[in-house]
Parts: sequence; C-alpha cells; structure tokens
Amino acid sequence: MNRAGNEAVADLSGKTIVLGVTGGIAAYKAISLVSLLAKSGADVHVALTKSAGQFVTPLPFVSLSKNEVITDLFDEPNPREIAHIALADRADLVVIAPTTANFLAKAATGLADDFLSTMLLATHAPVLVAPAMNVNMWNHPTVRSNVARLQQFGYHVMTPAAGNLACGWVGEGRLPEPDEIHAQIVKLLYPVRQDLNGQRIVVTAGATREHLDPVRVLTNPSSGRMGYALAQAAAARGAEVTLITGPTQLQLPSSCRIIRVTSAAQMEQAVLQELPNLQILLMAAAVSDFRPANYIPNKVKKTEGPLQIEFVRNPDILLSVAEQRKAQQFIVGFAAETEHVEEYAKGKLVGKKLDLIVANDVSQVGAGFESDTNQVLLISPNEQVQQLPMLSKMDTANAILDKVHQLFSERTVNE
Ligand code: CTP
Repeated sequence: MNRAGNEAVADLSGKTIVLGVTGGIAAYKAISLVSLLAKSGADVHVALTKSAGQFVTPLPFVSLSKNEVITDLFDEPNPREIAHIALADRADLVVIAPTTANFLAKAATGLADDFLSTMLLATHAPVLVAPAMNVNMWNHPTVRSNVARLQQFGYHVMTPAAGNLACGWVGEGRLPEPDEIHAQIVKLLYPVRQDLNGQRIVVTAGATREHLDPVRVLTNPSSGRMGYALAQAAAARGAEVTLITGPTQLQLPSSCRIIRVTSAAQMEQAVLQELPNLQILLMAAAVSDFRPANYIPNKVKKTEGPLQIEFVRNPDILLSVAEQRKAQQFIVGFAAETEHVEEYAKGKLVGKKLDLIVANDVSQVGAGFESDTNQVLLISPNEQVQQLPMLSKMDTANAILDKVHQLFSERTVNE
C-alpha cells in the first residue's frame, strides 16, 4: 500500500524512469501517467521541452513525482554532476509521451539542442516513444521514415490511437491512454520470458487469521506482497497459477485463479485439494502456528482481571504436503527468521522435505513483512546457499522463479 492507502497498479519500485514531455495538446495526459508511475513505486524524473511548457507547467509533475522537473539543458542543480548525463546513466527506461513530429525528427537525426534530445543520445536505457499529432502529419512519409529509423535504433514506438483529434480531424494520431502507456512500460521493464509456459503452479500468500470471537483475531503483519508478486510473475511467464490467499489489502491479480481463505485449517484444505494437480507449490503464506482452543461465538466482554486464552497447534501445511506429495512435484517453503537465518532455514528445508527454501531476516531494514523490497537466501538440498541482493519484491519473485525453473528443469531432464 502506498501512503494514500491506494493499491499500487504494478510494482515498479527500484526503477528509474525518465519521462520526456514534448509540446503537444496531449501533454496533459502525461500528468496522469506520472501519477500511475508514482503509485507503482517508480522514481520518475520529468523533462519538459520548451514547447511542452506552452501546454503544461512543471508544478503537477513535481507534486506527483516528488522530483525536480527539468526544463533547461543548462539547469545544473547539482554541481558535482552533469544533469543530462547523470540521468541518462541512471535511467532504466526513457519514455517520451507525447512525442511530437518535431521531436521524432530530432531524435531520428541525432539533433541535441535541448535537455531531452541530448539526454537521449547519452542513454543506454531502452526508449519508448508515444507519438501524438494530426493524422496527416502522422501519415506523412517524413514522419513515417523517422519512425522507421527510430525502430531501427531499437526504440519502441507505440502506435497512436484512432479517434477524434484535437485539431478537428478524425484518424490515427491520439496519444494512447496513460494506463496503456503504463502497461507498455511494465512490459519493457519486465520483459516476459515464457519459460514457465503451461506449468501448474500454486502460490499461497498473506497471513492467516484465527478468530477468537467474531471481532478478534490472531494474525501476523505479512502483507502478502511477496506471494502476490510470485503469482503475478509466474503467470506473466506463462504458468497456470492458482493463488490461495489469506485476507490482504492487495488487489487480486486477474492473471491467476483465486481461492480465498481465512484460517490455517482452510488454507491446508485448499492446498491439499490442489496438491494432486500441481507441479510447483510456492508456500509463501505466513501461516499461524496456533489458534484459540475455543471459538467464542459472541464478542468477549472485558472483565476486571486478566484474560486467559488457551491456544492449540494448527496443522503444519507443509508437513501434510510432505506426506501426500509425489516425488516429481517441486515444493518451495519460505522461512521468515529474526536470528540464525541459515541454520533455522536449513532445518525447515530438511524437516519439511522441501526442494528449496527461501529465507529472509525479517528484522533487517528492507527485508521485513511490509517492506517494498526483500533480501533473501535460496537454499536447496544439494547446493550452496545463494544470497540474492536487496531487490524489489517483483525482482525477488523473478529471481526465485529463475531458481525454481532451473532446479525443476534439471530434475525433469534427469528423470
Ligand atoms: N508453514 C506451514 N504451516 C504452518 C506454518 C508454516 O505450511 N502451520 C509453512 C510456511 O508457509 C513457510 C514454512 O512453513 O513456507 C516456514 O514457515 P515458518 O513460519 O517460518 O516456520 P514454522 O515451521 O512455523 O516454524 P517457526 O514458526 O517455529 O519458525
């Protein structure tokens, strides 16, 4: 969740995006685009060309991106660096939306007479351009050849949408809607490998809740983000994903089949029901080990003295899986620890008969339950411990899936 309480539309945390806005009537749509990117956690740096300044002002971009807006090549806020080179180097992606016919021509010929065109020559980052202009301009052979030339350089060019244009003409030339540009940005930043095509994967996510009475629960602060990132990443890589989720604040991913549960017992039932059909189980849920011994059907009223609650053990879902699994199934556990991370995780790897355990130290800054990032160890029975760097949860999810895919494929080949 971000501070406004809205769920981010996709996880772009850790990504630096330079958004160039050039001078067309559609420049106002770039404001919504920055809003979407900021909600996704991206670090957005906006550069306005001089003519963009005729249509929009820096203020909304500053407010939404929380970064300075660059309007002049010779504006050098930090004397220790050259702004257009520093940003060119830091960018994971450069987006130019809207892109005018004039800017397409500049980019196609390598003109560098303002911040944006100069930065464009200096960057090694992928570039996405979203042209918007009058339909006749768009169809002009010069514009077409400039677009073709940019595509030869490896630029990604979005085709303008068709419809009523601000100039009164009807046809292709409209800037695609901000959510379409955003989706394209996500695709470019997370190029989809179809390496999990057709694999049947079940992911569990979030905390379970054990009710004491209708209004009180035993639970834990797991946000579910790691599990949701795994489910989304696996689906994007072609897997058929079932997400068994405890209650979370997150938007349910439309790319997955969803089974909602509340308690550990319900989660166990759902997992065991899915077990015969799955190839890979990613047990990312933070399952409550205990539940109140008795559920009290009416709200417990306060009394003068202390309250005694008896807890009983919940089933260990992974132990039940270990009893019923087929040998060729690939079972991944997660261990959230606060000390002796490797030792405890190895104990769980063996005890729960896992093929891989993903361990993290939840007491570390940036690796905790509600963090945007994670830093994990990957431990498998016959391999050295692999330490991943601090990454966004989406990057961590993909790195975990890389490992799962590698080990699972090796097993299939060896059979
Ligand atoms: N797990 C499970 N059933 C439980 C508790 C945990 O299947 N009742 C799974 C978790 O989903 C996770 C792994 O076991 O994949 C390790 O969970 P964790 O809570 O770290 O370990 P526990 O076995 O509960 O041990 P402890 O709480 O003592 O550290």
